[in-house]
Amino acid sequence: MRLAVNIDHIATLRNARNEHDPDPVAAALLAEKSGAAGIVCHLREDRRHIRDHDLAGLRKAVTTRLDLEMAMTDEMGAIAVATMPELITLVPEKREELTTEGGFAIERHFNRLVAFLEPIKGAGIEISLFIEAEQRAIDLAEKAGADIVELHTGAYALKSGEEQATELKKIRQAAAYAKNLGLRVVAGHGLNYQNIAPFRTIEEIEEVSIGHALIARAAFVGIPAAVREMLDIIN
Ligand code: PXP
Repeated sequence: MRLAVNIDHIATLRNARNEHDPDPVAAALLAEKSGAAGIVCHLREDRRHIRDHDLAGLRKAVTTRLDLEMAMTDEMGAIAVATMPELITLVPEKREELTTEGGFAIERHFNRLVAFLEPIKGAGIEISLFIEAEQRAIDLAEKAGADIVELHTGAYALKSGEEQATELKKIRQAAAYAKNLGLRVVAGHGLNYQNIAPFRTIEEIEEVSIGHALIARAAFVGIPAAVREMLDIIN
């Protein structure tokens, strides 16, 4: 299983002083050098962590795969086409949330989604949709022309015991269903060094996207060790 590293919270730390350090681009390069298969950043509407110049710097520097997480807005659509990441991941975004809450409401936005994705797909950028692990959402993602579905693991991460096992089962079933439809499958949100292990047994999931836990660990051991420790667990 591949690891994509989300470096948003390097920018969070940098923005605490509004100066230059730590630099998200330098973090991305270290993560790549340590085995990350891709770099993820979320350019939020309020620019609370990643800023436009970070995205430009990441586009120049990243040699694996750059994944731009973004909301379905005209501004972000234009930025995606101008930046040319290898892929975008469409996420829901609310101004007041601390982090992405819930999957993209694909049913509600379906008609607009198809038109929104057209120029991005046309530019040759792969499309990933961050959705709940539900058949209906997967069917609609396929219908909308997504290449990849990112299954939301937030509920799994927040639960424990039986409830967590139920969430894992949902993710396992959804991964098999999506793969069977011809979609590539990744997973993310709330994954950490403790809760990641069962994902090794879901062979349809080709990649996990991890940010907060990995950057938090990196504060103690450095990015190379934090990435390698995660890779050791997932493989
Ligand atoms: N995947 C998506 C779509 C996300 O929005 C986020 C959070 O930015 C992540 C993965 C990573 O989540 P975490 O920071 O909890 O590892």
